[in-house]
Amino acid sequence: MEKKYSPINPKCPHFLHGADYNPDQWMSTPEVWDEDMRLMKLANCNVMSVGIFSWASLEPEEGKFEFGWLDTIMDKLAENDAYAVLATPSGARPAWLAAKYPEVLRVNADRVRILFGARHNHCYTSPVYREKTRIINQKLAERYKDHPALLVWHVSNEYGGECHCELCQEAFREWLKQKYDGDLDKLNHAWWTAFWSHTYTDWSQIQSPAPHGETSIHGLNLDWKRFVTHQTIEFFKNEIAPLKEITPDVPVTANFMGLYPGLNYWKFAKEVDVVSWDSYPAWHGREPDWELASKIGFVHDINRSLKDGKPFMLMESTPSMTNWQEVAKLKRPGMHLLSSIQAVAHGSDTVQYFQWRKSRGSSEKFHGAVVDHCGHENTRVFRDVAEVGKVLKKLDPVVGSTVKPDVAVIYDWENYWAMEDAQGPRREKKDYQLTCQMHYRPFWKRGVPVDVIDMDCDFSGYKLLIAPMLYMVRPGVAERIEKFVENGGIFITTYWSGIVDENDLCFLGGFPGPLRKVTGIWSEEIDALYEHDINHVVLKDGSSLGLKNEYEARELCDLIHAETARVLATYKSDFYAGRPAFTVNSFGKGKAYYIAFRNNDDFLDDFYSWLINDLSLKRAICAELPEGVTAQLRSDGERNFVFILNFAPEERSVDLGSKEYLDMLTNEQLTGYITLKGYGIKILQEFL
Ligand code: GLA
Ligand code: ZN
Repeated sequence: MEKKYSPINPKCPHFLHGADYNPDQWMSTPEVWDEDMRLMKLANCNVMSVGIFSWASLEPEEGKFEFGWLDTIMDKLAENDAYAVLATPSGARPAWLAAKYPEVLRVNADRVRILFGARHNHCYTSPVYREKTRIINQKLAERYKDHPALLVWHVSNEYGGECHCELCQEAFREWLKQKYDGDLDKLNHAWWTAFWSHTYTDWSQIQSPAPHGETSIHGLNLDWKRFVTHQTIEFFKNEIAPLKEITPDVPVTANFMGLYPGLNYWKFAKEVDVVSWDSYPAWHGREPDWELASKIGFVHDINRSLKDGKPFMLMESTPSMTNWQEVAKLKRPGMHLLSSIQAVAHGSDTVQYFQWRKSRGSSEKFHGAVVDHCGHENTRVFRDVAEVGKVLKKLDPVVGSTVKPDVAVIYDWENYWAMEDAQGPRREKKDYQLTCQMHYRPFWKRGVPVDVIDMDCDFSGYKLLIAPMLYMVRPGVAERIEKFVENGGIFITTYWSGIVDENDLCFLGGFPGPLRKVTGIWSEEIDALYEHDINHVVLKDGSSLGLKNEYEARELCDLIHAETARVLATYKSDFYAGRPAFTVNSFGKGKAYYIAFRNNDDFLDDFYSWLINDLSLKRAICAELPEGVTAQLRSDGERNFVFILNFAPEERSVDLGSKEYLDMLTNEQLTGYITLKGYGIKILQEFL
């Protein structure tokens, strides 16, 4: 049963709509600020993210603070019934700070310290940077703690990257000592350092991975990545300490970057009050929009799942084009509203942009903005933004609602790190992310909500648990999967699962290691195929699972033995013709399927389509959806909110059947066939 969360900050029980706002770029023309306020109202915006890169304007000289301009902006926002998502400025530092304290500048993996410039490139360990950040954050909190405009803390900006300076090396060694109980033998074993004579005899010999140094010890690479996440979070905790002390009721967030591989967001999410992320899909590009939309849906679902269903914030998206993309194509008519509402459909309680006003100079001067260089509201983009604001104003009942899906797909950062480091079976196209997204797509196409979780999450609330390429299996995970299946759950895993433990050490005694019992198979070898190689799998009795008699097998083929499992399909050709390719194992009250081969979409599409019906999985609406259309669900336990989204450029129709829905945008009662225009949306309400 879905529950209703309170709004991100109860001060504003509405959807938040707004953008990154840099008034300090227009300090010499303050009339622009008044114009901004007029335009914000016209654009139906109620929130601005301010101060993200404002350190130099807030502290132009060491210890000399200037808040006057920000006071004015905060006051103006409040006077205009708008709010501030107020940033701490650590995402970029002033030149004086870098000049006086070079230790704040990051050292790259090649051990070269960077010069002052760019952004997002400070050392996370430097005591000086932590202290300077703490001071300015404290000043901001003290100054605005009672300000009516203060709504959410936007801490730094897009934390990312890593620093290899001596301070970080020392912190890494300390972290390792803690992790391995001060026992170097334990570390040497976990990292398998006898390989190539890399045994450490003193902690001081340990260095972070480097292109001109160590890269071949996978346990080290993995622990370094874990340390980078840990140290980034430590830095974040240092940033929020004064905020939490002075403004305990103001939620803090840090804008995440989707599937950014450098940080384990499952660890980070525990430390923020509300999850937020920045989404920049390349619409109208090389793949059909609906395919891209299903990949973005997957990422939205991670962001909702990161806090167990709690609504998140779409902190950034572009109002038109994204200037850093290879081809900065404009959003076609309809796409702006559609992609904004897509985030809402998956659980966002905000639609926010980068950026409010195009900067006049420097590297982002051509990035899409609500207000273009022309400076007025008579633009296509401005009208599109205003329309989103208008729609959001009609969605108050949706704020705080969520979804509890029957299905979860495991996407696990540590698993990704370990798998990417592995040499073999294919150097390229291991495609862990894509594989997870392909397992997700059949559900998206049929309007079946999905959680995207990591392997440490609780599985017990789901009917179906899908773990594509579960290469790493951390301690306790296999036992929890067994329990899930024993209790009646359906578990699905694939080729290249159960290969290494949490230290990236291979399981001995037969793959898939700890998953062998529940899957009832032994994987003896794995074959990697060239692009032009195509094998096939042949189903014994495909029709009973809604399957065809034959499917392609490409790229990766596990050569397995069925132990307790029943064979559902076998390979058609090559020296492993006749060997099992798809199996099912009955285990307690449930079943575990093992898909030994990689396929195009069609196998997964057919199989999951059958499972959706067989398990009667929760759907947004009971309707067949045409290609390009998805339906997503949010609910507050009393009302369902159904979002029907057409990512096809052409018109599509959907049969709602005999059920009656309220169209939340037009207040019409809808039933039977409805039509969505190309890139069109419908937001329906249904009383339970
Ligand atoms: C990121 C940053 C923003 C801006 C946008 C441009 O998401 O957080 O400051 O640079 O990219 O797309
Ligand atoms: Zn450092």
